[in-house]
Amino acid sequence: MKRTKINDIFAPELIGQKVLVKGWVRTRRGNKNVQFVALNDGSTVRNIQIVFDLGKFSEDDLKAVTTGSSLAVEGTLVESMGKGQTCEIQAESFELYGTADPATYPLQKKGHTMEFLREKAHLRPRTATFGAILRIRSSLAFAIHKFFNEKGFFYLHTPLITGSDCEGAGAMFQVTTLPLNNIPKTETGEIDYSKDFFGKPAALTVSGQLEGELGATALGAIYTFGPTFRAERSFTPRHLSEFWMIEPEMAFYDINDNMDLAEEFVKFCIQYVLDHCRDDIEFLAEHFDKELIPRLEFVLHNDFVRLTYTEGIDILKASGNKFEVPVEWGIDLQSEHERFLVEKHFKKPVILTDYPKDIKAFYMKQNDDGKTVRAMDVLFPTIGEIIGGSEREADYNKLLARIEELHIPMKDMWWYLDTRRFGTVPHSGFGLGFERLMLFVTGMANIRDVIPFPRTPNNADF
Ligand code: 4AD
Ligand code: MG
Repeated sequence: MKRTKINDIFAPELIGQKVLVKGWVRTRRGNKNVQFVALNDGSTVRNIQIVFDLGKFSEDDLKAVTTGSSLAVEGTLVESMGKGQTCEIQAESFELYGTADPATYPLQKKGHTMEFLREKAHLRPRTATFGAILRIRSSLAFAIHKFFNEKGFFYLHTPLITGSDCEGAGAMFQVTTLPLNNIPKTETGEIDYSKDFFGKPAALTVSGQLEGELGATALGAIYTFGPTFRAERSFTPRHLSEFWMIEPEMAFYDINDNMDLAEEFVKFCIQYVLDHCRDDIEFLAEHFDKELIPRLEFVLHNDFVRLTYTEGIDILKASGNKFEVPVEWGIDLQSEHERFLVEKHFKKPVILTDYPKDIKAFYMKQNDDGKTVRAMDVLFPTIGEIIGGSEREADYNKLLARIEELHIPMKDMWWYLDTRRFGTVPHSGFGLGFERLMLFVTGMANIRDVIPFPRTPNNADF
């Protein structure tokens, strides 16, 4: 007999039919006449109730059917009397695949804290909460590919190992095969990278953008979607050492086109999960965040406010609010400032533009004022920065001057400058942090809970 996934079992035409389901036991309860098992197979947040008639099965048969054990059950699908259930399976036979000793199974009880589950990251996908999160994550990834594919963008695979530092922050993980206990040195006492695997220093990428620009200035519009690595010692609920970033890059887009795309893109993603992950979103809303669905709908139905950094600073100053980091023109905005603008002042997502050039990366298009660059950050309620991007400096001489001013080694940048030397065009792009968007759509409070296996300082176990 062919197995039916639990997600497909709630179809009215299956009532009265014989079915075979396979999954893991969430709970077992009952009395001396009948036992009820809630079975889940990961295909949906919903469990199917299996009814074991103790006229047919003995207590002994069911002894090993405990929380966490795995089963195949054959039986008849019938309409259910129990409230909240549409149907259940009257068991006729079952096979126990594997036991889960109640004395040692870590997820024996319900209602664990998120902190506890982080310690059990190898098993937490089996919980209802993480099942919901991981299914939403999968759908959201699919939505992203769908959005760009339908717009005629090409998916470009940029390298994970790179010789250049895109964001200039220096927080990179080095990649080397040099023996750490016996590092080869040159005559002048420096590390001899000619002996290293790539013959030069290499690191894990902090962004695919620079290579993305090579693609955009050839294919017109590309996007990347891949792992990104940052070796910052950040312990905030919004930072990971390994996260996923989506980076579209478009020839012939100015900053306004860029903002329009960013807004359309995140709205598409939010609408997609509301349409395709309704059960999971409702589950998370019910258990963690009653405001989740109204908040998602609010973002969908409102235009994002667009203003300059300078205007933003004026608003923060005039607010009279006391911030931990005092507000003055030139500061790198902290999450407290971003969230004040979004949650208290405008009560809407905000796109902030034209930041001081000193706090932004070298590649951003310089404004005529000599002080600001054509940056755009999208700021979201509860999250703060969800997207960072800009129009790019397309002028060879201006870009070169900025690279020299910041002492970025030319040996790392000649290939990037060639895009401006040969057939340069106005172009723009941005980066969306996939897990930041996941935080927003799931209502979770900590970024470690929206990625299957979080990497943070001191944590790379499994
Ligand atoms: O603002 P960032 O650093 O921008 C870039 O890397 C550009 N090269 C993007 C581009 O223009 N193509 O990062 C972009 C986004 C942030 O807005 C944030 O959502 C996310 O990536 N992000 C992180 N997410 C999780 N953990 C971290 N440590 C993150 N750092 C950035
Ligand atoms: Mg940024």
